[in-house]
This record gives sequence, C-alpha cells and structure tokens, in this order.
Amino acid sequence: MGTPTLIEVEDAEQFGAVVADYFSESIQQVSNKPTVVLPTGFTPLPFYKEVVERYQNGESYLNKFKYLALDEYLGLPEGDHRLFASWLSREILSPLSILNEDRIIFDSATSDTEGECARIEKAIEEKGRIDLAIIGLGSNGHIGFNEPGSHQDSKTRKIKLTLETREANSEYWGSLEDVPTHAMTLGIGTLKKAKKTLLMVLGKHKARILKDTLSKPVCVDIPSTYLQNQEHVTIIGDRDAFSEME
Ligand code: PGA
Repeated sequence: MGTPTLIEVEDAEQFGAVVADYFSESIQQVSNKPTVVLPTGFTPLPFYKEVVERYQNGESYLNKFKYLALDEYLGLPEGDHRLFASWLSREILSPLSILNEDRIIFDSATSDTEGECARIEKAIEEKGRIDLAIIGLGSNGHIGFNEPGSHQDSKTRKIKLTLETREANSEYWGSLEDVPTHAMTLGIGTLKKAKKTLLMVLGKHKARILKDTLSKPVCVDIPSTYLQNQEHVTIIGDRDAFSEME
C-alpha cells in the first residue's frame, strides 16, 4: 500500500506549472517512449497550456511519449467536436505534433464495443505497461468513466453514464442532450497497471470527494478509493481542493 504524495498549489497558473514539471520529469525518466494516459475535462487545461508553451519555447522532448486515451463517448461520428480524441488533439496532441501512430484511442463509432475495448486492452498488454496515468476526479468519485459500482478489477469496457456525470459534462457542450448516454473507459483494474499515477484536483466542489477518496474504505461506490492501494501516486491540487483534509 502506497502513501500518496500530496502537493498543494496556490492557483491555476501554479497548478499548470507544477503538473508540467511532474510530467516532464516523468517522461524523461523512461528511456523508450513512455505510454501516458491523459484525461479530458476542465482540470487539466492549465497543464496542457503550460506544456504546449514550453514545447513551443524549445523543450522539444515534451512530445516523446505515446498517448493512451482514458475514455471516450460512445456513438459519436468521426470529426465530432465532442469526441475526447478531438478535444485532446486540440489542447495538447496536435500542438505537440504527436503522430497518429502514437495515439491509442477508442473508435467512438464502433458497432462492436466489446471488440473495441479488447483491442485497447491488447494494445496495453503488447506495450507491457502504462508508464504514467494522469487522471482527474469526478465529483462522484469516478476515474475516467468508471462510475460508482465499478469493480476495482474492472477492465476496459462500455459503461452507462450516470445523470450526475452527464450533467457535469453538459458544462462542456452546452446542454444535457449534447452529452452521450454511454461511453468506453479504461477499467480500474487497467489503471492499476500504471507504474505512476498523478491525480489532478482543482476547486472547492472536489474537496469532499478528495477527502473521501483518501479516507473512506476502498469500495466500488467510490471508484477513486483504489488509489489508496496504488504505489507511486501523486496528488496535485489547489488549496480549495485540499480544504477538507485534516
Ligand atoms: P473536470 O472533470 O476536470 O471537468 O472537473 C473531471 C472528471 O469528471 O473526471
């Protein structure tokens, strides 16, 4: 059982810089192209902005990684702006010139979700490891789209999104109707394969769930509690996010 390293920052700007430092050190520690999970959401945006700026200012090693998608909506057509693959492409992958062959992503439009999820699991198996999983935290304790009820050994699979998650996601796209009802996600058991994990948390609205993540018994109702048993976990958050911790 590992004890997470907690890093508290002042504001979003400092958050972006500290997460970028962690990312940059982590990818340089791995000699052959590391596999890195990156999330969508509002939380990582200051980090992506910072990494892109550093890359444009000459830190060319910042694109020496293979991207592994954390999750994806199900049933959106190619090119849809809501695709998480498109979102990540806009914010970080294209500005860093990450090649398509270095992007392990879900096919949202697949008619065979089981086969699609098995393909992702196989890609991870072939690679042999996830070097770094950078993840956000849902207000209901979800990690990726592992909603409450997700087993601690769950694999990559299709999942029905909770109303709470769909409401939270409607902030990205304008209305609830714009948020798909189902998604595919790396499983908790899959994420446990990560050699290092970085959880990013910003804001007062995440303070309670962050506290529960670290203090409640490990359980399926709060999927993020798996982090208590995970080695090499770092949590970077602002003062608001840490405000309910003793
Ligand atoms: P957020 O989403 O970064 O937009 O808060 C996090 C999540 O739901 O995992």
